Amino acid sequence: MPGLIVIGSQWGDEGKGKVVDVFSSQSDYVVRYQGGANAGHTLIVDGKKTVLHLVPSGVLHPNTKCIISTGVVLDIETIVEEIKALKVNGLLQDSKQLLISDTATVLLRYHRELDQAREKKAEHEKIGTTGKGIGPAYEDRASRKAILFGDLFDPSTLREKLVKSLDEKNYLLEHMYGKKPVDVDELIKEIAVYTEELKPYRCKNTSYKIHQALKADKKILFEGAQGTLLDLLHGTYPYVTSSSTIAGSACIGSGIGPNQIQKVVGITKAYTTRVGSGPFPTELDDEVGNHMGTVGKEFGATTGRKRRCGWLDLVALKYAIRINGITNLALMKIDVLSGLENIKLCTSYELNGEITTVYPSTPGDLAKAKPIYKEVKGWSEDISEAKALQDLPAEARSLVSLIGSELGTPIDVVSVGPGRKQTIWVKPLF
Ligand code: GDP
Ligand code: IMO
Ligand code: MG
Repeated sequence: MPGLIVIGSQWGDEGKGKVVDVFSSQSDYVVRYQGGANAGHTLIVDGKKTVLHLVPSGVLHPNTKCIISTGVVLDIETIVEEIKALKVNGLLQDSKQLLISDTATVLLRYHRELDQAREKKAEHEKIGTTGKGIGPAYEDRASRKAILFGDLFDPSTLREKLVKSLDEKNYLLEHMYGKKPVDVDELIKEIAVYTEELKPYRCKNTSYKIHQALKADKKILFEGAQGTLLDLLHGTYPYVTSSSTIAGSACIGSGIGPNQIQKVVGITKAYTTRVGSGPFPTELDDEVGNHMGTVGKEFGATTGRKRRCGWLDLVALKYAIRINGITNLALMKIDVLSGLENIKLCTSYELNGEITTVYPSTPGDLAKAKPIYKEVKGWSEDISEAKALQDLPAEARSLVSLIGSELGTPIDVVSVGPGRKQTIWVKPLF
């Protein structure tokens, strides 16, 4: 069972990209299995920054194969740009390093236009989407109108499907949102350019490929996008994304059985951030929140939006551990907490006059939940050069151990900076 899922345990941007890059040195494959270009995964190696939206975060390791499986909504313009940028930087020199599933959903410019037009019209009820067309693309999949990656290589199927799909899309664009309708012939011409660029990466059956690799005992990382609390079914609905972001989705999106998974690593920031609308019980609108945002450089890797910041929420994390089956944790960005006199951890909520440690199941209750905190002493030292737990000040060490014991889950990795080398391994990966 050499499969390992890397999952965001909060509202995304926990540092999944960094962890996947670090883990990739020991992995044969990295699979992106859900979401799309709403993801922004940042990798920093020797001071050089790479932001990936669709290409799996193993790509910096030339011997690690990268797979985009069926569950992803593939924005063909974005991925072509991303591939070009990688190649210019000397990466992805062998096209066999990247495989794109023939059955992945294609995301086209009208999905983006619809997403943005809807958000604009929503005025006070905005979800705060990334505007990348994720909702409309998954809607097409669910309503069985999606264009699949393999369809791009079959002109008559592509035309037929586009005509059908645009019938409805153009009605909405024109009559509901006052936008210009999409011309099929123009669109087909545009698509042809991207199709040509993407031809070398085409893979008819990624599920079988992954299955074969698992059988051969290859080490496979399943790279989650977004985070647990943005899950379509189990997140803070309706302020969620349009895919399932929890660990079970790795099996669904890539077409493998749950018995192939050895470990589920929950990626957790030492505090909490959220981009977009929706409840956030431990949110801070004060100096400490500003400290987190400024020191942690909390601006979206996809949209550049300012991320909302707040204390670590152990109630939410326990929920994430439960619904993902998280076996191990990677604790990220503890360096950002340096300089805070005291650090708070939310250990329970007060809800409807009662104290609870169970994450509320309805968005209404979550919005009413008041966090109850445990406070510990902070530290002032710069810890970004720490190589082992012993290098950390006593206060930081006890914070790590308190988080692990409160959550009852081992912390295998502690991250003290964005760089690949700023990683403390508490336990080996495999
Ligand atoms: P992802 O979406 O989960 O991959 O996370 P993002 O890349 O969107 O956001 C995480 C941000 O934190 C990126 O800018 C990373 O470079 C940065 N980062 C990751 N780990 C650490 C860390 O331990 N300390 C600091 N200071 N920054 C980190
Ligand atoms: P990574 O993989 C943080 C949020 C958006 C919005 C909601 C719905 O980098 O962690 P969507 O465009 O998906 O329809 O937006 O989900 N969101 C993310 N927030 N990190 C992400 O990805 C996100 N992807 C979507 O801000 O609140
Ligand atoms: Mg991100």
